[in-house]
Amino acid sequence: MGNTLGAFRFMTRGNQSYAPDREEDFAEKNIGVPCRVVTGNKVAQNVVANIGNILTREEFSFGIAVPRRDFTGGVCPSNVTTGKTHEKYKRFMLEVLSKASGEIPVLIAKSVLSNISQWGSAPRDFELKMMAVVADTLIPSIFGQSTPFEAEEIDLYASGVIEPTAPVLKQLSRMNLDKERQALSSIVAKVKTSERYQQLLDLGKSHGLTEEETTGQLLFTAFFNGIAGTTVNIVGSFARLASISGEDREELREEALAALKKHGGLTPEALGEMPKVESFVLESLRANPSALIWGFVAPRPTTLKYTAKSGEREVEIKEGELVLASSYWVLRDPAVFDKPEDFVWRRFLGPEGEARRQDHVVFMGRLNDTPAPSNYMCPGKDAALSLLKGSVAIFNTFFGWELQEPPVWTGTKFLRSAMPDNEVKIKKFWVQHPEDLKDIFPSHADDILNALV
Ligand code: HEM
Repeated sequence: MGNTLGAFRFMTRGNQSYAPDREEDFAEKNIGVPCRVVTGNKVAQNVVANIGNILTREEFSFGIAVPRRDFTGGVCPSNVTTGKTHEKYKRFMLEVLSKASGEIPVLIAKSVLSNISQWGSAPRDFELKMMAVVADTLIPSIFGQSTPFEAEEIDLYASGVIEPTAPVLKQLSRMNLDKERQALSSIVAKVKTSERYQQLLDLGKSHGLTEEETTGQLLFTAFFNGIAGTTVNIVGSFARLASISGEDREELREEALAALKKHGGLTPEALGEMPKVESFVLESLRANPSALIWGFVAPRPTTLKYTAKSGEREVEIKEGELVLASSYWVLRDPAVFDKPEDFVWRRFLGPEGEARRQDHVVFMGRLNDTPAPSNYMCPGKDAALSLLKGSVAIFNTFFGWELQEPPVWTGTKFLRSAMPDNEVKIKKFWVQHPEDLKDIFPSHADDILNALV
């Protein structure tokens, strides 16, 4: 199949355009670019373990998409750098994000509640409103106080910062990027005047980064990986809450309410006492992962040895060949997740659920693995999980909502990522448990109750 037909199938059928037959471990496909697609869970884990050894990354390329250099200040995003450069960038981002993670529980509660107090009972442009919730959590955790960032400008930056690799799609993607460039300038100006910018530059310097490198890494990490990447998951898990039974929601609520009461708010300790909420979030990430495809290239003709269901195998990869692991299909592999198309929110509970985390590779590594300079695993894992758990706990414990239409996920809309196929729109949003809200978050309760009458 040629690139144009491949691109067309990919744009119209998304993940379903390369649905696996589960027989071939490295299926030859074309999704706008020729590639070998990996859909088996264990095989993908083998591929990931080989980065830096047999497979590598190509600078400024995610395989099916590439970052626009004028949006990154000419600085290559960390996860498509290699060797010492990758180690340097990753070490820096790990330090930034480990500091940020501890602040997330308190910030997500404040962000959800203060955003809701401005929503009214029928919030429009709901997905952008959720981006504001994520931004108001992640930005202060990294940059401290700053001039407020608008969700619209972050959305524009995120859609401008990458473009498709396939020539036919590249042509179709917007040529006039004036608004996106304005958003970029506005974001950079706010970042540079933020409370912690100088501290971050000093930290970057201590890791051997120039000012441009520090700013470039922070921009891409915070606004693309972090905010844009997590928004699709917060929207996805919110929509999933609307699709489970009232009894199940009540069970999740009781657990979260007990932990919030015990700890007097959303503290790290309270989040640690919400295994059911955590299992729900992990199942949302499994059923509808973001970061749908991970790309690798073979720097030379190579024989890749790997372990598959059928035992020890090997495959020949040609020089320059692109290998894509599909997190969508890897997390739907029936060999590791029973009835993968079913949404089973208890899947990650108890000892069996603990064992299943071995194969939950949404962050490009096993859930219990640690992101490090020597691997490419997501350094925002803990921050993202706290944010998602915290938001589910707050929304589900105090609020009720009705969507305009039931959410569906068919895997055919690649651009929707973890979100349902159709835009999530709210018909009605209300406070479901005002007494609990007053009890646990008295400083937000009046504003919200006045706004949502
Ligand atoms: C649920 C939300 C998230 C998911 C599912 C996710 C997933 C991933 C995945 C799969 C990768 C590896 C991509 C690749 O190398 O091909 C990655 C890398 C990365 N993520 Fe995340 N991520 C999330 C949230 C975040 C957040 C909140 C941040 C930071 C604020 C972040 C920062 C990064 C960075 C800097 C890298 C590059 C790692 C490297 O250079 O080795 N991510 N993420």
